[in-house]
Amino acid sequence: MAALIAPSILSADFANLERDLNAISSADYAHVDVMDNHFVPNLTLGLPVFERLAQVSPIPIDAHLMIDEPDRWAPAYAEAGAASVTFHAEAAAAPVRLARELRRLGARAGVALRPATPVEPYLDLLSEIDMILVMTVEPGFGGQSFIDGTLPKIRRARAAVSEADLDVWIQVDGGVSRATIERAADAGANVFVAGSAVYGAQDVPAEIETLRDLASA
Ligand code: DX5
Ligand code: ZN
Repeated sequence: MAALIAPSILSADFANLERDLNAISSADYAHVDVMDNHFVPNLTLGLPVFERLAQVSPIPIDAHLMIDEPDRWAPAYAEAGAASVTFHAEAAAAPVRLARELRRLGARAGVALRPATPVEPYLDLLSEIDMILVMTVEPGFGGQSFIDGTLPKIRRARAAVSEADLDVWIQVDGGVSRATIERAADAGANVFVAGSAVYGAQDVPAEIETLRDLASA
């Protein structure tokens, strides 16, 4: 399966977001972390900034909404031009209704799971979504270390997707680097978010290629 690389601009220079989006133009998606200081103890950016990022980004945007009340706020990110909008299962009141709304607006619909959130309740609903995001750290901050205990969940999600013969992507986010990406790929992930590993590299395009090669091997 082709590996898709989605660098997270959480590790970019927030005073130079357009420059830092252009730096990752060889990647598949630009991962944009929206945090509201309620669902997670950190605050990043909201819709006005997101709308401009979507206008200037050279590659499609993958929005990761770490926010309360995604049922209320997520559709606007699809309307702003996100190619993919991922909301947290723990925060959504009606995940299927929200996923259908995101798809109706032309975005891919993703459901994110914190490390301690089980995937099983969502396995019967795979036909309603385009991606499962298995968080490999607790959401909220970049630069944390990969939690190996999430690998069995990735495996179970991949097995269920294969069993159902669906094209649901499995994304991992948090602590993804040269040291960990192969473990996540072996477990069945096909979309890889990396923030500090990409933006902390001396040569950003080369790092994207290295991660893609390691994940595809
Ligand atoms: C964390 C965010 C991630 C973050 C990953 O809650 O969802 O996207 O940028 O950062 P790294 O790759 O540094 O762990
Ligand atoms: Zn993220």
